[in-house]
Amino acid sequence: MSKRPIFFASLLLTGWPIMFGCGLQNDATQGSKLDIVGGNTVTASQYTTLFKSIASLRYGGSHFCGGTLIASNKILTAAHCLADFSSSTIKNSVTVTLGSSSLSSSTGATTYKVSSYKIDPRYNANTSQFDMAVITINGTSTITPAKVNVDTALPAVGAKTYVAGWGSTREGGNVNSALKYTSVAVVANKECTIAYGSDIYAGSLCAYTKATDSCQGDSGGPLYSLSATTMTVVGVVSWGYGCAQAGYPGVYTRVSEFTPLTF
Ligand code: ARG
Repeated sequence: MSKRPIFFASLLLTGWPIMFGCGLQNDATQGSKLDIVGGNTVTASQYTTLFKSIASLRYGGSHFCGGTLIASNKILTAAHCLADFSSSTIKNSVTVTLGSSSLSSSTGATTYKVSSYKIDPRYNANTSQFDMAVITINGTSTITPAKVNVDTALPAVGAKTYVAGWGSTREGGNVNSALKYTSVAVVANKECTIAYGSDIYAGSLCAYTKATDSCQGDSGGPLYSLSATTMTVVGVVSWGYGCAQAGYPGVYTRVSEFTPLTF
C-alpha cells in the first residue's frame, strides 16, 4: 500500500525533503506544524445545510479518503484513493459512509458498499494527472447531491473556495474525527507552475491561502464554491507539497475538465 510520492525525483534533485503522502499512508513528517490545516470545525447546523454530501471512504472501517455525493448513488473521489487497491479489495473492504460529521459516531450515518467504480483511464500515478474516480454505491442516498461545476471559466482566479474533510490538521498528523473546512483562494495554473513545474496541467486547479490547506486524509473530497447554500464542486483534493507550506498551493483535480456525472 505504498503511494509513490509525487515529484519524488524532482524533489530529490532540488534537495527538498520528501514530504508527500496520501491516503492510508502518512509519511509527511517534516515541516511546520500548523493547525484540514487551519480552518474551522463544521457545526451541526452547518453540516445539515452545507456539508451533508461529503462522504468518508473507509478501508476496514477506517477513514482514508473523502468523496462527494454527486448523484443519489454516485461518489466523486480521487483516482489515487482507489488506484492502489485491487478491485476485489475495493468491493470487499472499502465502504462509503454518508450522513455523519463525526468519524466516531454512527448517528445518522449510512454505510454503503461499492457496487462498481471507474478510475479515469488517463490517471498517471507518477504525475497525479487525471486524479479522478467515481464510485457507484450499492444503494441510493436521500441526501441532496452536490452540484458539479461544468463551466471551464470558473472558478475565477482569486475566487474564494472551500475545502472540507476529515484529514489531518497538521502535516504528518492523523485523520481528524470531526469534519473541518477552510477557505482557500484560487491560484492561476501559470502561477502554480512556479511552485510545481510541469505536473500542473489544464486539469489542475490550485488554491492557496497562507497557513491553511487540505492535508492527508482529505484527498478525494471536494473543493467547492458556495452560493447561498448551494455547494458546487470545482475540484477534488489531490496533492501538495506537505500541507500549508508557504508558497505551495494545494493541487486539486479541476472537475470542469472532466465529465464526472457521466463517468
Ligand atoms: N494526497 C493527500 C491525500 O491523499 C492530499 C494532500 C493534499 N495536500 C495539500 N497540501 N493540499 O489525502
